[in-house]
Amino acid sequence: MVVTTAGTGSESTGIGVVTDTENDIKNSVIGVATLGILDPETTVTVPPETTAYTGMDAFAHAAEAITAKAPPNPKSELLASDAIKRIVKYLPIAMEDGNNIEARGNLLLASNFAGIAFNDALVHLGHAIAHSIGAKFHLTHGAVCALALPEVMKYAAQVDASKVKIVGESMGITFNGEESSEQIGGEKVADAIRKFIKELNIKSLKEFGVSKEELIHMAPMVFNDPCYNFVPKQLTEEQVVDILINM
Ligand SMILES: [Fe+2]
Repeated sequence: MVVTTAGTGSESTGIGVVTDTENDIKNSVIGVATLGILDPETTVTVPPETTAYTGMDAFAHAAEAITAKAPPNPKSELLASDAIKRIVKYLPIAMEDGNNIEARGNLLLASNFAGIAFNDALVHLGHAIAHSIGAKFHLTHGAVCALALPEVMKYAAQVDASKVKIVGESMGITFNGEESSEQIGGEKVADAIRKFIKELNIKSLKEFGVSKEELIHMAPMVFNDPCYNFVPKQLTEEQVVDILINM
């Protein structure tokens, strides 16, 4: 597989995603690459907007892999943490200067590492939401992943705040050890992700033309998405609706 965006990490995962345009759903197909080529020259013409969306898809793969239900997986954690560090550092640079080979190369590595990480640890709630909203309203996958992520980290911190702390530390956030799980998930990590996606000029759901009323009806679809099976803790419909409202 010759990679032309730095996001999906499909060259390092056993899965590809297809959109079923007749039924407005997304589904996975098994597709294992025997060889992946990461050449930054192939991504220099990716426009800034798509660079942001794909970069945040990789960020979401990494953050969800760290916080997934799967048993502790030091390799996934290590690779996912490295991916987040590279994305935070190089995504703004690549958006500013698409021809920056160093930034483009590091984003490809980040996407690849995040792909290896989530191929083992899997992605969960954020991707269940992104698949549902993305398919229904025909929105770019990475944008919805980015918009779901702050809420997903708040929820994940209630399950295991130490994992969300790893996401935060990878972003360069410092913790004094006194924070509650709500502070780690909400004030620290969720706020930092919101700030980061604002800097990347990722539109809000409102700007994408999706109303709160329409979003609330998406909860059943979120539960039906295959990625929902990997959430670290079951949610009630009310909790999912709250997350959608906050998004
Ligand atoms: Fe994704």
